[in-house]
Amino acid sequence: MHLESDMRVNSKGHLTVAGLDTVELAKTFGTPLYVMDEAVVRENCRLYKNAVDQNYNGHGMVFYASKALCIKEMCRIIESEGLGLDVVSGGELYTAISIGFPMDRIMFHGNFKTEAEIEMGVVNDVGRFVIDNLYEAELINTIAKKYGKTVKALLRVSPGTDAHTHEFIMTGQIDSKFGTPIEGGAAEELIGKILELKNINLAGLHCHIGSQIFELEPFNYTARVMLNFMADIDEKFSIKMTELDLGGGFGIRYIEDHDPIPYEKYMESIADTVDSVCKERNLDRPYIMMEPGRSIVGSAGLTLYTVGSIKEIKDVRNYVAIDGGLPDNPRYALYGAQYDVLVASKANKRPDFTATIAGRCCESGDLIQENVSIAKPEPGDTVAVLDTGAYNYSMASNYNRVPRPAMVFIRNGQARLVLNRESYDDMLKNDL
Ligand code: LLP
Repeated sequence: MHLESDMRVNSKGHLTVAGLDTVELAKTFGTPLYVMDEAVVRENCRLYKNAVDQNYNGHGMVFYASKALCIKEMCRIIESEGLGLDVVSGGELYTAISIGFPMDRIMFHGNFKTEAEIEMGVVNDVGRFVIDNLYEAELINTIAKKYGKTVKALLRVSPGTDAHTHEFIMTGQIDSKFGTPIEGGAAEELIGKILELKNINLAGLHCHIGSQIFELEPFNYTARVMLNFMADIDEKFSIKMTELDLGGGFGIRYIEDHDPIPYEKYMESIADTVDSVCKERNLDRPYIMMEPGRSIVGSAGLTLYTVGSIKEIKDVRNYVAIDGGLPDNPRYALYGAQYDVLVASKANKRPDFTATIAGRCCESGDLIQENVSIAKPEPGDTVAVLDTGAYNYSMASNYNRVPRPAMVFIRNGQARLVLNRESYDDMLKNDL
């Protein structure tokens, strides 16, 4: 069990976050409730931004991967911190547009962008498209031509890196639905074709090797492969690619055993690799981009629930039922993801009860965590699941027609609602 640095236990024995009593938050806003500490988000943004400034003299940019949590308030925060935004769909792009996010700081990703989405990107002048394949390149070119524009693009390639992470969230290997492999020459061949498309300015390359990675080596190995490939391409086609995007994937601590390397260390180490390969291959240092998602928002969030029944099945296990689960956090069901859990209303009590935290859906797999040690709860207690800032709300669903929770951001000791709790009518609004 670990508490984040902004968490304490107050004199009532309640968990506090950013100075606020979580039991009070649950009372005021209802449960389930997503709670975000804005200071942690901003601190993470600054860590990354400073690392780019220090290691690359500012010749680079950090793009927040908005799939981790894409809501207007996050777009506003990212905008004000001077970071870029990685979007993967018309919906994410629309969210950014709705708050006036500067379009030149947007990177439009995804292995399937519809024609309408590409058009939306072209019309709104997004800064960069990341091309996944030839079909898409041709589509982007046709649409750009229709509007008399040339769009800046990077090509997603797979460097063949094994990032030792959960296979469901590994996206950099050769057997991948994303991008085109360097190995075997497919990426080189594709680049030759894209260079003939007049309305695309192919500025560089992109890769992303996976998520929740704790080691430095996969990142350094990848940077080496990518830069060598860039040098090969420059030579082969007599061009000069100027941009390199190394993706996201930096791990966070969900449980005590996780030991992420500080992000600035990742950045320092990758910068060393970039410099040494550039020297070896006589390359100008490209404009370096990164796309952290989880490590910007993950640890800033927690989810509060109310306990219902407690079922002690003798010699089997104890189920603690909560008023949320898979609809607001499908990550245990999907990946067996680990989380620290505590009874926020009994945070000063010994965690001597072994419990399986069960969600409310009609689905046996709707669990938040199995056999964790918590203080013995009673109905009505508040349970906190920590580090839920990334890929929780963004992956939430209405399974069993359960409305999505509300979300609050805490700043300067004040909690403000940034997402209303969904109503039943919200869920019905598209039903005819
Ligand atoms: N860039 C690209 C192209 C990506 O595909 C991703 C994540 C990121 C950046 C951000 O990666 P991060 O820094 O957040 O690790 N739903 C899964 C995670 C899927 C990640 C997909 N791509 C989960 O809940 O763990």
